[in-house]
Amino acid sequence: MTEAAACPFIGRDDRKSAALADAEANPDPGFAPVVDFAFARDLMRSPAVVQGMQHEFFAEKDPNRVPVIFLDGEIHKKRRSQLARYFTPRAIKDRHRQVMDRTTAELMAQLRRSGRGQLDVMTLRLASDVAAEIVGLTASDASAMSERLRKLFRASGKARGNGLAARLGKIEHALRTLWFFNRDVKPAIRDRRKHDRDDVISFLVREGYSDQEILVECMTYATAGMITTREFIVMVAWQLFGSESLRRQFLEGDEDARFAILDEILRIDPVAAYLYRRADEDMVTSEGRQVKAGERFLIDIRKSNLDEAATGQCPLAIDPERSRREKMPGNWLSFGDGPHRCPGAQVALHETCVFIDALMRVPGIRLARAPDVGWIEEINGYELHGAWVECPAE
Ligand code: HEM
Repeated sequence: MTEAAACPFIGRDDRKSAALADAEANPDPGFAPVVDFAFARDLMRSPAVVQGMQHEFFAEKDPNRVPVIFLDGEIHKKRRSQLARYFTPRAIKDRHRQVMDRTTAELMAQLRRSGRGQLDVMTLRLASDVAAEIVGLTASDASAMSERLRKLFRASGKARGNGLAARLGKIEHALRTLWFFNRDVKPAIRDRRKHDRDDVISFLVREGYSDQEILVECMTYATAGMITTREFIVMVAWQLFGSESLRRQFLEGDEDARFAILDEILRIDPVAAYLYRRADEDMVTSEGRQVKAGERFLIDIRKSNLDEAATGQCPLAIDPERSRREKMPGNWLSFGDGPHRCPGAQVALHETCVFIDALMRVPGIRLARAPDVGWIEEINGYELHGAWVECPAE
Protein backbone atom coordinates (compact mmCIF):
# COMPACT_ATOMS: atom_id res chain seq x y z
CA MET A 1 0.00 0.00 0.00
CA THR A 2 1.37 3.43 -0.87
CA GLU A 3 1.59 6.14 1.77
CA ALA A 4 -1.20 8.15 0.09
CA ALA A 5 -3.52 5.15 -0.17
CA ALA A 6 -3.23 4.65 3.59
CA CYS A 7 -4.92 7.99 4.21
CA PRO A 8 -8.59 7.45 5.10
CA PHE A 9 -9.59 10.96 3.95
CA ILE A 10 -8.07 10.88 0.51
CA GLY A 11 -9.13 13.82 -1.67
CA ARG A 12 -10.97 15.60 1.13
CA ASP A 13 -10.59 19.32 1.66
CA ASP A 14 -12.73 20.43 4.60
CA ARG A 15 -11.53 24.03 4.65
CA LYS A 16 -14.14 26.76 4.30
CA SER A 17 -12.07 29.93 4.24
CA ALA A 18 -9.13 28.89 2.03
CA ALA A 19 -10.34 30.32 -1.29
CA LEU A 20 -11.09 33.69 0.28
CA ALA A 21 -7.79 33.76 2.19
CA ASP A 22 -5.90 33.03 -1.05
CA ALA A 23 -7.73 35.86 -2.78
CA GLU A 24 -7.88 38.47 0.00
CA ALA A 25 -4.96 38.07 2.39
CA ASN A 26 -2.73 41.05 1.90
CA PRO A 27 0.17 40.90 4.36
CA ASP A 28 2.62 43.79 4.69
CA PRO A 29 5.53 43.47 2.27
CA GLY A 30 9.12 42.95 3.46
CA PHE A 31 8.50 39.88 5.64
CA ALA A 32 9.77 36.46 4.48
CA PRO A 33 6.86 33.95 4.51
CA VAL A 34 7.31 30.92 6.79
CA VAL A 35 5.19 27.85 5.99
CA ASP A 36 7.29 25.19 7.70
CA PHE A 37 5.66 24.30 11.04
CA ALA A 38 8.89 23.50 12.94
CA PHE A 39 10.65 26.65 11.74
CA ALA A 40 7.62 28.81 12.53
CA ARG A 41 7.40 27.39 16.04
CA ASP A 42 11.14 27.83 16.67
CA LEU A 43 10.91 31.47 15.60
CA MET A 44 7.92 32.17 17.83
CA ARG A 45 9.51 30.45 20.81
CA SER A 46 12.92 32.09 20.52
CA PRO A 47 13.77 34.96 22.91
CA ALA A 48 15.87 36.38 20.05
CA VAL A 49 12.71 36.94 17.97
CA VAL A 50 10.24 39.72 18.80
CA GLN A 51 6.82 40.97 17.73
CA GLY A 52 7.12 42.31 14.17
CA MET A 53 3.77 44.09 13.98
CA GLN A 54 3.74 47.93 14.11
CA HIS A 55 7.28 47.81 15.51
CA GLU A 56 8.27 51.32 14.39
CA PHE A 57 5.07 52.88 15.74
CA PHE A 58 5.37 51.43 19.26
CA ALA A 59 9.19 51.77 19.46
CA GLU A 60 8.62 55.49 20.19
CA LYS A 61 6.12 54.95 23.00
CA ASP A 62 6.59 54.54 26.76
CA PRO A 63 6.65 50.71 27.15
CA ASN A 64 4.63 51.03 30.36
CA ARG A 65 1.74 52.29 28.27
CA VAL A 66 1.89 49.90 25.30
CA PRO A 67 -0.70 47.09 24.86
CA VAL A 68 0.68 43.70 25.85
CA ILE A 69 0.62 42.33 22.31
CA PHE A 70 3.19 44.91 21.15
CA LEU A 71 5.63 44.42 24.06
CA ASP A 72 8.63 42.10 24.28
CA GLY A 73 11.34 40.95 26.68
CA GLU A 74 11.21 41.45 30.45
CA ILE A 75 8.40 44.01 30.45
CA HIS A 76 6.24 41.71 28.33
CA LYS A 77 6.97 38.82 30.68
CA LYS A 78 6.01 40.96 33.67
CA ARG A 79 2.77 42.12 32.05
CA ARG A 80 1.83 38.56 31.07
CA SER A 81 2.37 37.37 34.62
CA GLN A 82 0.16 40.22 35.88
CA LEU A 83 -2.57 39.17 33.45
CA ALA A 84 -2.22 35.41 33.97
CA ARG A 85 -4.66 35.37 36.90
CA TYR A 86 -7.61 36.13 34.58
CA PHE A 87 -6.93 33.10 32.39
CA THR A 88 -6.16 30.25 34.82
CA PRO A 89 -8.26 27.04 34.76
CA ARG A 90 -9.61 28.14 38.14
CA ALA A 91 -10.70 31.57 36.79
CA ILE A 92 -12.39 29.82 33.87
CA LYS A 93 -14.17 27.37 36.17
CA ASP A 94 -15.13 29.79 38.94
CA ARG A 95 -15.78 33.03 37.05
CA HIS A 96 -15.92 32.91 33.28
CA ARG A 97 -17.93 29.71 33.06
CA GLN A 98 -20.84 31.42 34.83
CA VAL A 99 -20.86 34.20 32.20
CA MET A 100 -20.68 31.62 29.40
CA ASP A 101 -23.61 29.63 30.82
CA ARG A 102 -25.73 32.70 31.59
CA THR A 103 -25.33 34.40 28.21
CA THR A 104 -25.71 31.13 26.29
CA ALA A 105 -28.96 30.35 28.17
CA GLU A 106 -30.28 33.84 27.38
CA LEU A 107 -29.36 33.53 23.68
CA MET A 108 -30.90 30.06 23.36
CA ALA A 109 -34.12 31.21 25.07
CA GLN A 110 -34.39 34.10 22.59
CA LEU A 111 -33.74 31.72 19.70
CA ARG A 112 -36.38 29.24 20.83
CA ARG A 113 -38.93 32.01 21.34
CA SER A 114 -38.45 33.65 17.97
CA GLY A 115 -37.56 30.52 15.96
CA ARG A 116 -34.55 32.15 14.34
CA GLY A 117 -31.27 33.82 15.19
CA GLN A 118 -28.34 35.42 13.37
CA LEU A 119 -25.31 33.39 14.38
CA ASP A 120 -22.64 36.11 14.24
CA VAL A 121 -24.81 38.43 16.34
CA MET A 122 -25.38 35.69 18.91
CA THR A 123 -21.72 34.65 19.05
CA LEU A 124 -20.45 38.22 19.29
CA ARG A 125 -22.74 38.76 22.26
CA LEU A 126 -21.26 35.70 23.97
CA ALA A 127 -17.63 36.54 23.09
CA SER A 128 -18.13 40.14 24.15
CA ASP A 129 -19.77 39.21 27.49
CA VAL A 130 -16.94 36.83 28.35
CA ALA A 131 -14.11 39.18 27.33
CA ALA A 132 -15.91 42.14 28.94
CA GLU A 133 -15.91 40.37 32.29
CA ILE A 134 -12.16 39.72 32.00
CA VAL A 135 -11.43 43.29 30.90
CA GLY A 136 -13.91 44.91 33.28
CA LEU A 137 -16.24 46.46 30.69
CA THR A 138 -19.22 45.75 32.89
CA ALA A 139 -20.61 49.16 33.80
CA SER A 140 -22.93 49.38 30.78
CA ASP A 141 -25.66 47.19 29.27
CA ALA A 142 -24.02 44.04 27.83
CA SER A 143 -26.32 43.61 24.88
CA ALA A 144 -26.10 47.28 23.88
CA MET A 145 -22.29 47.19 24.13
CA SER A 146 -22.12 44.09 21.95
CA GLU A 147 -24.24 45.89 19.34
CA ARG A 148 -22.02 49.02 19.54
CA LEU A 149 -18.94 46.86 19.04
CA ARG A 150 -20.54 45.00 16.13
CA LYS A 151 -21.20 48.28 14.36
CA LEU A 152 -17.72 49.54 15.21
CA PHE A 153 -16.09 46.43 13.69
CA ARG A 154 -18.25 46.73 10.58
CA ALA A 155 -17.25 50.39 10.22
CA SER A 156 -13.57 49.45 10.39
CA GLY A 157 -14.22 47.16 7.40
CA LYS A 158 -15.75 50.06 5.47
CA ALA A 159 -12.78 52.30 6.35
CA ARG A 160 -10.38 50.31 4.17
CA GLY A 161 -9.11 51.78 0.89
CA ASN A 162 -8.93 55.34 -0.45
CA GLY A 163 -12.23 56.24 -2.14
CA LEU A 164 -15.09 58.38 -0.81
CA ALA A 165 -16.76 55.34 0.78
CA ALA A 166 -13.55 54.59 2.68
CA ARG A 167 -13.25 58.22 3.86
CA LEU A 168 -16.82 58.07 5.16
CA GLY A 169 -16.01 54.69 6.70
CA LYS A 170 -13.07 56.25 8.55
CA ILE A 171 -15.30 59.00 9.94
CA GLU A 172 -17.90 56.44 10.97
CA HIS A 173 -15.20 54.32 12.61
CA ALA A 174 -13.84 57.29 14.58
CA LEU A 175 -17.35 58.24 15.75
CA ARG A 176 -18.23 54.70 16.74
CA THR A 177 -14.94 54.37 18.67
CA LEU A 178 -15.80 57.58 20.51
CA TRP A 179 -19.31 56.23 21.18
CA PHE A 180 -17.88 52.97 22.61
CA PHE A 181 -15.42 55.02 24.68
CA ASN A 182 -18.13 57.29 26.15
CA ARG A 183 -20.81 54.65 26.69
CA ASP A 184 -18.74 51.65 27.83
CA VAL A 185 -15.10 52.42 28.62
CA LYS A 186 -15.48 55.67 30.57
CA PRO A 187 -18.24 54.38 32.90
CA ALA A 188 -16.09 51.28 33.59
CA ILE A 189 -13.06 53.46 34.42
CA ARG A 190 -15.16 55.73 36.66
CA ASP A 191 -16.48 52.69 38.50
CA ARG A 192 -12.95 51.21 38.94
CA ARG A 193 -11.63 54.51 40.29
CA LYS A 194 -14.23 54.18 43.07
CA HIS A 195 -14.11 50.39 43.56
CA ASP A 196 -10.97 48.42 42.81
CA ARG A 197 -12.02 45.10 41.23
CA ASP A 198 -10.34 42.00 39.87
CA ASP A 199 -10.11 42.79 36.16
CA VAL A 200 -7.84 44.35 33.54
CA ILE A 201 -9.26 47.90 33.75
CA SER A 202 -8.83 47.94 37.55
CA PHE A 203 -5.21 46.91 37.02
CA LEU A 204 -4.65 49.62 34.40
CA VAL A 205 -6.26 52.25 36.66
CA ARG A 206 -3.93 51.19 39.49
CA GLU A 207 -0.96 51.46 37.12
CA GLY A 208 -1.94 55.04 36.25
CA TYR A 209 -2.97 54.54 32.61
CA SER A 210 -4.82 57.47 31.02
CA ASP A 211 -8.39 56.99 29.75
CA GLN A 212 -7.06 57.05 26.19
CA GLU A 213 -4.52 54.31 26.94
CA ILE A 214 -7.20 52.18 28.57
CA LEU A 215 -9.33 52.58 25.44
CA VAL A 216 -6.42 51.26 23.33
CA GLU A 217 -6.06 48.25 25.63
CA CYS A 218 -9.84 47.61 25.46
CA MET A 219 -9.70 47.75 21.66
CA THR A 220 -6.86 45.20 21.76
CA TYR A 221 -9.02 42.81 23.75
CA ALA A 222 -12.01 43.57 21.57
CA THR A 223 -10.12 42.52 18.45
CA ALA A 224 -7.86 39.82 19.99
CA GLY A 225 -10.56 38.26 22.16
CA MET A 226 -14.00 39.11 20.80
CA ILE A 227 -13.89 39.13 17.00
CA THR A 228 -11.63 36.07 16.86
CA THR A 229 -13.94 34.04 19.11
CA ARG A 230 -17.06 35.20 17.28
CA GLU A 231 -15.64 33.94 13.96
CA PHE A 232 -14.42 30.70 15.47
CA ILE A 233 -17.77 29.75 17.00
CA VAL A 234 -19.59 30.44 13.71
CA MET A 235 -17.00 28.33 11.85
CA VAL A 236 -17.52 25.42 14.24
CA ALA A 237 -21.31 25.66 13.90
CA TRP A 238 -21.00 25.75 10.09
CA GLN A 239 -18.77 22.64 10.08
CA LEU A 240 -21.02 20.73 12.47
CA PHE A 241 -24.22 21.60 10.60
CA GLY A 242 -22.49 20.23 7.48
CA SER A 243 -21.47 16.88 8.97
CA GLU A 244 -23.85 14.66 10.88
CA SER A 245 -21.00 12.40 11.99
CA LEU A 246 -18.89 15.28 13.36
CA ARG A 247 -21.92 16.71 15.10
CA ARG A 248 -22.66 13.36 16.72
CA GLN A 249 -19.02 12.91 17.78
CA PHE A 250 -19.14 16.37 19.36
CA LEU A 251 -22.41 15.84 21.21
CA GLU A 252 -21.49 12.37 22.44
CA GLY A 253 -17.84 13.10 23.24
CA ASP A 254 -16.24 14.08 26.54
CA GLU A 255 -14.38 17.36 26.93
CA ASP A 256 -11.14 16.00 25.41
CA ALA A 257 -13.00 14.66 22.37
CA ARG A 258 -14.80 17.99 21.91
CA PHE A 259 -11.63 20.03 22.21
CA ALA A 260 -9.94 17.72 19.67
CA ILE A 261 -12.73 18.51 17.17
CA LEU A 262 -12.49 22.25 17.84
CA ASP A 263 -8.69 22.16 17.48
CA GLU A 264 -8.94 20.39 14.13
CA ILE A 265 -11.50 22.88 12.80
CA LEU A 266 -9.24 25.72 13.89
CA ARG A 267 -6.16 24.03 12.43
CA ILE A 268 -7.52 23.96 8.89
CA ASP A 269 -9.32 27.33 9.17
CA PRO A 270 -7.30 29.31 11.73
CA VAL A 271 -8.98 32.64 12.49
CA ALA A 272 -5.66 34.52 12.56
CA ALA A 273 -3.99 33.80 9.22
CA TYR A 274 -0.53 35.19 9.93
CA LEU A 275 1.69 36.88 12.49
CA TYR A 276 4.69 39.14 12.06
CA ARG A 277 8.06 38.56 13.71
CA ARG A 278 11.49 40.21 13.62
CA ALA A 279 14.83 38.74 14.75
CA ASP A 280 16.41 41.05 17.31
CA GLU A 281 19.58 38.97 17.57
CA ASP A 282 21.23 36.19 15.55
CA MET A 283 19.87 32.74 16.38
CA VAL A 284 20.10 29.11 15.31
CA THR A 285 16.91 27.02 15.15
CA SER A 286 16.53 23.49 16.55
CA GLU A 287 17.17 22.19 13.03
CA GLY A 288 20.39 24.20 12.70
CA ARG A 289 19.01 26.98 10.51
CA GLN A 290 20.80 30.34 10.90
CA VAL A 291 18.75 33.49 11.38
CA LYS A 292 20.38 36.91 11.32
CA ALA A 293 19.39 39.90 13.44
CA GLY A 294 17.08 42.18 11.47
CA GLU A 295 15.45 39.41 9.40
CA ARG A 296 11.67 39.79 9.29
CA PHE A 297 9.21 36.95 9.01
CA LEU A 298 5.58 36.42 8.16
CA ILE A 299 4.46 33.34 10.09
CA ASP A 300 1.81 31.84 7.81
CA ILE A 301 -0.40 30.01 10.31
CA ARG A 302 -2.75 28.71 7.63
CA LYS A 303 0.02 26.98 5.68
CA SER A 304 2.18 25.96 8.69
CA ASN A 305 -0.85 24.19 10.17
CA LEU A 306 -1.06 22.13 6.96
CA ASP A 307 2.63 21.18 6.86
CA GLU A 308 2.54 17.40 6.37
CA ALA A 309 5.83 17.00 8.21
CA ALA A 310 3.91 18.02 11.34
CA THR A 311 0.32 16.98 10.60
CA GLY A 312 0.86 13.64 8.88
CA GLN A 313 -1.29 12.60 5.94
CA CYS A 314 -4.33 14.30 4.51
CA PRO A 315 -3.72 17.66 6.21
CA LEU A 316 -6.84 19.25 4.65
CA ALA A 317 -9.23 16.84 6.39
CA ILE A 318 -10.70 17.26 9.88
CA ASP A 319 -9.35 14.31 11.83
CA PRO A 320 -9.85 14.63 15.59
CA GLU A 321 -7.38 11.78 16.20
CA ARG A 322 -4.58 13.61 14.42
CA SER A 323 -2.79 15.49 17.19
CA ARG A 324 -2.74 12.45 19.47
CA ARG A 325 -1.55 10.20 16.66
CA GLU A 326 1.14 12.63 15.52
CA LYS A 327 2.07 13.52 19.15
CA MET A 328 1.56 17.19 18.39
CA PRO A 329 0.03 19.96 20.52
CA GLY A 330 -3.68 20.09 19.73
CA ASN A 331 -3.76 23.85 19.20
CA TRP A 332 -1.11 23.64 16.44
CA LEU A 333 -0.18 27.26 15.71
CA SER A 334 -3.75 28.57 15.72
CA PHE A 335 -3.23 30.52 18.97
CA GLY A 336 0.38 31.42 18.15
CA ASP A 337 3.24 30.05 20.26
CA GLY A 338 6.03 31.22 22.56
CA PRO A 339 5.80 34.32 24.76
CA HIS A 340 2.91 35.90 22.83
CA ARG A 341 0.83 32.72 22.69
CA CYS A 342 -2.81 33.63 23.18
CA PRO A 343 -3.63 33.78 26.89
CA GLY A 344 -7.34 33.45 26.03
CA ALA A 345 -7.07 30.11 24.16
CA GLN A 346 -8.70 28.02 26.89
CA VAL A 347 -11.37 30.67 27.46
CA ALA A 348 -12.20 30.65 23.74
CA LEU A 349 -12.34 26.84 23.55
CA HIS A 350 -14.56 26.59 26.63
CA GLU A 351 -17.04 29.20 25.48
CA THR A 352 -17.20 27.62 22.04
CA CYS A 353 -17.99 24.25 23.66
CA VAL A 354 -20.71 25.72 25.86
CA PHE A 355 -22.40 27.59 23.00
CA ILE A 356 -22.16 24.83 20.38
CA ASP A 357 -23.41 22.18 22.76
CA ALA A 358 -26.48 24.26 23.64
CA LEU A 359 -27.13 25.26 20.00
CA MET A 360 -26.90 21.73 18.62
CA ARG A 361 -29.34 20.49 21.28
CA VAL A 362 -32.09 22.97 20.38
CA PRO A 363 -34.93 20.76 19.03
CA GLY A 364 -35.27 21.03 15.25
CA ILE A 365 -32.28 23.37 14.90
CA ARG A 366 -30.98 23.85 11.34
CA LEU A 367 -28.72 26.19 9.42
CA ALA A 368 -31.15 28.20 7.29
CA ARG A 369 -28.50 30.37 5.68
CA ALA A 370 -24.75 29.68 5.51
CA PRO A 371 -22.42 32.58 6.36
CA ASP A 372 -20.79 34.89 3.85
CA VAL A 373 -17.03 34.81 4.19
CA GLY A 374 -15.20 38.13 4.35
CA TRP A 375 -11.74 39.28 5.36
CA ILE A 376 -10.79 41.53 8.32
CA GLU A 377 -7.42 43.25 8.44
CA GLU A 378 -7.58 43.80 12.24
CA ILE A 379 -7.10 40.10 12.94
CA ASN A 380 -5.51 39.22 9.58
CA GLY A 381 -8.23 36.65 9.16
CA TYR A 382 -11.69 35.69 7.95
CA GLU A 383 -15.05 36.89 9.17
CA LEU A 384 -18.30 34.98 8.82
CA HIS A 385 -21.46 37.00 8.75
CA GLY A 386 -25.10 36.67 7.79
CA ALA A 387 -25.59 33.05 8.90
CA TRP A 388 -29.08 32.29 10.24
CA VAL A 389 -30.23 29.34 12.30
CA GLU A 390 -33.88 28.33 12.62
CA CYS A 391 -35.94 26.09 14.88
CA PRO A 392 -39.70 25.69 15.50
CA ALA A 393 -40.77 28.77 17.54
CA GLU A 394 -42.18 28.01 21.00
C1 HEM B 1 -10.67 31.58 18.83
C2 HEM B 1 -10.35 32.64 19.49
C3 HEM B 1 -8.97 33.24 19.52
C4 HEM B 1 -7.96 33.13 18.61
C5 HEM B 1 -7.96 32.35 17.29
C6 HEM B 1 -6.85 33.91 19.11
C7 HEM B 1 -5.63 34.01 18.47
C8 HEM B 1 -4.53 34.67 19.00
C9 HEM B 1 -3.20 34.64 18.43
C10 HEM B 1 -2.80 33.90 17.16
C11 HEM B 1 -2.41 35.41 19.24
C12 HEM B 1 -0.90 35.64 19.08
C13 HEM B 1 -0.55 37.01 18.56
C14 HEM B 1 0.94 37.13 18.28
O1 HEM B 1 1.71 36.21 18.55
O2 HEM B 1 1.34 38.17 17.75
C15 HEM B 1 -3.24 35.92 20.30
C16 HEM B 1 -2.82 36.78 21.31
C17 HEM B 1 -3.64 37.34 22.25
N1 HEM B 1 -4.95 36.99 22.52
FE1 HEM B 1 -6.03 35.63 21.52
N2 HEM B 1 -7.21 34.48 20.30
C18 HEM B 1 -8.49 34.09 20.61
C19 HEM B 1 -9.22 34.41 21.75
C20 HEM B 1 -8.81 35.28 22.73
C21 HEM B 1 -9.57 35.63 23.91
C22 HEM B 1 -10.94 35.05 24.27
C23 HEM B 1 -8.84 36.58 24.60
C24 HEM B 1 -9.16 37.32 25.84
C25 HEM B 1 -10.34 37.50 26.35
C26 HEM B 1 -7.61 36.79 23.84
C27 HEM B 1 -6.63 37.69 24.18
C28 HEM B 1 -5.40 37.75 23.57
C29 HEM B 1 -4.33 38.65 24.00
C30 HEM B 1 -4.41 39.68 25.14
C31 HEM B 1 -3.24 38.40 23.17
C32 HEM B 1 -1.87 39.07 23.23
C33 HEM B 1 -0.90 38.22 24.02
C34 HEM B 1 0.53 38.69 23.95
O3 HEM B 1 0.93 39.32 22.95
O4 HEM B 1 1.30 38.38 24.87
N3 HEM B 1 -7.63 35.97 22.73
N4 HEM B 1 -4.53 35.44 20.15
